[in-house]
Amino acid sequence: MSSYETIQVTREGRVGTITLDRPKALNALNAQLMTEVVAAAEELDADRGIGAIVVTGSERAFAAGADIKEMAAQSYADMALGDWFAAWDRFASLRTPVIAAVSGHALGGGCELAMMCDMVIAAESARFGQPEINLGVFPGIGGTQRLTRAVGKAVAMDLILTGRTMTAPEALAVGLVSRVVPTEELQTQVAEVAATIAEKSLPVLYATKEAVNRAFETTLAEGVKFERRTFHATFALEDRTEGMGAFVEKRTAEFKHR
Ligand code: CAA
Repeated sequence: MSSYETIQVTREGRVGTITLDRPKALNALNAQLMTEVVAAAEELDADRGIGAIVVTGSERAFAAGADIKEMAAQSYADMALGDWFAAWDRFASLRTPVIAAVSGHALGGGCELAMMCDMVIAAESARFGQPEINLGVFPGIGGTQRLTRAVGKAVAMDLILTGRTMTAPEALAVGLVSRVVPTEELQTQVAEVAATIAEKSLPVLYATKEAVNRAFETTLAEGVKFERRTFHATFALEDRTEGMGAFVEKRTAEFKHR
């Protein structure tokens, strides 16, 4: 594994964890951190020994947004020609399931990073928001699109236009996160969820993630067709034979591709 300065990367069994590590800036997403997160995530994604990736921060902050100090001096030409934030598209294209473990601030780009993950599990202390409007901009790493798809227009407009933050229970109620857990239990509970996912058949995990994500990209009829073709394709896998065979024989499946 490569060495990084703004993140830590660890592996436990089939789970890879990326911990954002710029504590003095509340894990603000500067260019270096973006490059390192994407590189580490792609490295884990390419590793067949990894079946789930966790992205997390500190107890105080998941990430307080894109780095405002780095952005402050940029011109329109700098942003447009440099295509700032484009590397995050590669993060959103990972095939391995990714879980965001969020404690503390998940604001601006931090909230957007969480939404690029496949599941968000929040500590009771987590706070979500898109406060960019207070800086004279608006969300630029997918927030206007992913927040709206996740929680609907009413709540997305409320958050993005006012810049207010949302508590973990509110994030659960509106469907931005799938679970809220006691803050001190966040890492252990997320590790359990990640390990559970990572034990499944890897090609089936990839196909499942792709099928669910298709719901955001296409019509219902096309999405259902895609699901059916992909579902049929799982019957070509030894892991499908093993999974159903194990059920019939009343034993635990031993997937080959994991
Ligand atoms: N960028 C750069 N530095 C940041 C930062 C950010 N997004 N957020 C916090 N920091 C820095 C602070 O400047 C401070 O550094 P110094 O000690 O050198 O002054 C340090 O982190 C600690 O922050 P605070 O002293 O402000 O801590 P606090 O507990 O009083 O407040 C906070 C915490 C409410 C999160 C506050 O820091 C804050 O409002 N941060 C900015 C949040 C924000 O606006 N995010 C959106 C960024 S823009 C964006 O993300 C665009 C996009 O969609 C692409």
